[in-house]
Amino acid sequence: MKQTIKEVDVQGKRVLMRVDFNVPIRDGEITDDRRIQMALPTIQTVLERGGKVTLMSHLGRPSGNGYEAEFSLKPVAVRLSELLNEDVSFDESSDKAVVLRENLRFDSREKAGDEAFGASLAEGCDIYCNDAFGTAHRNHASMVAVPQQMEGKPRVAGLLLEKELKYLDESIRNAEPPFVAVLGGAKVSDKLGAIERLIGTVDSIVIGGAMAYTLLAAQGVHIGNSLVEEELIAQSKEMLEVAGAKGTTIHLPFDHVCAPEIAAESAAVVESGDIPDGLMGLDIGPETTSAFADICERAKTIVWNGPMGVFECPAFSKGTKGVANAIGNATEKGAVSIVGGGDSAAAIAQFGLETKMTHISTGGGASLQMLEGKEFLSVSLLDDTV
Ligand code: 3PG
Repeated sequence: MKQTIKEVDVQGKRVLMRVDFNVPIRDGEITDDRRIQMALPTIQTVLERGGKVTLMSHLGRPSGNGYEAEFSLKPVAVRLSELLNEDVSFDESSDKAVVLRENLRFDSREKAGDEAFGASLAEGCDIYCNDAFGTAHRNHASMVAVPQQMEGKPRVAGLLLEKELKYLDESIRNAEPPFVAVLGGAKVSDKLGAIERLIGTVDSIVIGGAMAYTLLAAQGVHIGNSLVEEELIAQSKEMLEVAGAKGTTIHLPFDHVCAPEIAAESAAVVESGDIPDGLMGLDIGPETTSAFADICERAKTIVWNGPMGVFECPAFSKGTKGVANAIGNATEKGAVSIVGGGDSAAAIAQFGLETKMTHISTGGGASLQMLEGKEFLSVSLLDDTV
């Protein structure tokens, strides 16, 4: 267990807080402020107890050669100030209660994990707090070099990081059965590590999305023009065999909503079993949706990462919606549901099911790596509870 910000005396101290304010911005407007909202409790507990915070984050992937207006954290400073109802200074030398530094990645030393850069960030701060779960898998300067440089001072977890670790690590380790993993998304290559770790741990893995077609091809199903990663067919075959031997049932779609291409106006047809040439599977079919929903509704622990189809197009959204609803129903009946990955979180928001899930992670890559059972250096550097 890691010490949290709640356990340290912050009165009169300046807390250097790494947050993940990497939010989507379109035309200067933040289109989803969830990551900012989720960081508020950690910031507020410092302010309420007489401390000050210097916040630092990255935004997007700038070149690292200096300021680029499109990646400025300025809109975040404005939004944060509204949410906190408090002045947010954008001047890093200011002594105001809330200071937000400009995008760390304007300096290439951030991604390089540079020690001297870490030391310069740490200057003048008394406590290090990591609340950036979304970035926890990166060994960047603000995540690793800074806490290393601040050895001897308190280095603690923020409340969001604490919550994410509770669900993505502890709940999964101590899951109540039936334990079901629902995996989707475009590529099986992105999820191989997670599948391999979950085999033998979960009772069932339910797989949808385009990644299912590589696995179906491995089973000899004709998949028409569906997306496939040919080079992974042999490995997928092996994985399916190992799963069977280790007592994890892998459920693949057996009917599909298909169209000639991914386009909203594409005429969707349902195909059972083999998919004819000229068509690609773009969502799980109605029979599969009902079978997957059934498995989810009977589960006591569910982890979900990746949509079942191209849910952004209404014609291919029913599978993801059906499974999301079933996970919501299971949660209402007492199951623990943990959702990771930006696409699944976006799908849940699109269907208005946010309040029905136990935990929706703010992490994309980080939540997937947790599912793979990886340990993060950025977290291990934080003080343990005594
Ligand atoms: C994310 O959005 O997953 C995190 O903020 C990490 O961003 P990165 O993939 O650019 O490191």
